Amino acid sequence: MSTQKPRYATITGTGAYLPEKVVTNFDLEQMVDTSDEWIRQRTGISERRIAEDDTATSDLSVQAARRAIKRAQIDPVDIEMILVATVTPDTFFPSTACYVQKGIGAKNASAMDISAACAGFLYGLDLADGLIKSGRYDTILVVGGEVFNNIIDWKDRSTCVLFGDGAGAAVVQSTEEPKGILASYIGSDGDYADINLLGIPAGGSRMPLTAEGLDRKLDKIQMNGREVFKLGVRLMPEAAQRVLRQANVTVEEIDLLIPHQANLRIIEAVGDRLGVPREKVYVNVDKYGNTSAATVIIALDEAIREGCAKPGDLILLVTFGAGVTWGSTLLRL
Ligand code: UT7
Repeated sequence: MSTQKPRYATITGTGAYLPEKVVTNFDLEQMVDTSDEWIRQRTGISERRIAEDDTATSDLSVQAARRAIKRAQIDPVDIEMILVATVTPDTFFPSTACYVQKGIGAKNASAMDISAACAGFLYGLDLADGLIKSGRYDTILVVGGEVFNNIIDWKDRSTCVLFGDGAGAAVVQSTEEPKGILASYIGSDGDYADINLLGIPAGGSRMPLTAEGLDRKLDKIQMNGREVFKLGVRLMPEAAQRVLRQANVTVEEIDLLIPHQANLRIIEAVGDRLGVPREKVYVNVDKYGNTSAATVIIALDEAIREGCAKPGDLILLVTFGAGVTWGSTLLRL
């Protein structure tokens, strides 16, 4: 008979870092044909943080990671793997995770990026959970970080009002206590891999960036907002229900739902479809806009700091993004 004790993966420290520069809806009114009223009504966003021109995703990620490491009370050399979820890597290669490794001095880690758009952080948590439960790893740093500043067309009102910059990080460690990640699920549907739905057309091997491409702004985000909206409202409740079933947990038992922070109307629709009362749905999209791979971990960190997420609480994280990709994690803090 096996004497092996069960292993669980738990978050022992979180951290977030938002750039100082605040761009309000009123600032955007000066740049494009929009209004504070339109942006708040359609998205729930009032302001977002934007990184300085010389700031890259790894710069924000290192700051968030340092905070998470401090709260987990570990030494960076104890980290065995670094996973950075981002759609705005510092460079195609080396990976942003390698820059983060250098920045935090995690000399003993392997490092790689995750490309799963806004679902990336939960992809990272899912991988960390599996690798820790398998017994191969004890300490993994998962980061979600984005600097959208350079891939936004600041003259396109349909996208420039939505996004913001920021990073969040979690130290995930093994434990024998039955807590931490209770259930996790990630998925994708490549039938929706369409840059007209959501993506950046040029700059990769499909369409190298040329002078003409630059003129046509093919290096900037393109999005069909309405279609993405409908997908989010359908996919997130489905993903959330899946982990609830996996863990045999009812919606009533959830202490806090943290959905991807892209649009307040999507967040409320997801909560309503799941039957989670509004006071249990965490919202900070008003302050930061959509920080893509960073939204759920920035929100979890903030909820912990504010006392909305306490030790022992049952937290449901759910997200979706380009690809399309989606993911959901059920956590006992
Ligand atoms: O992480 C995932 C990434 N993305 C998302 O989750 C985005 C999902 N989609 C959305 O959040 C919403 O679809 C948007 C906020 C992007 C747009 O809201 P909507 O209610 O779907 O508006 P719409 O695209 O149908 O546009 C309505 C009108 C249009 O004008 P007409 O054709 O009715 O005359 C747009 O041109 O609003 C106009 N419009 C704007 N007006 C003022 C679009 N953007 C703006 C703007 N300011 N910034």
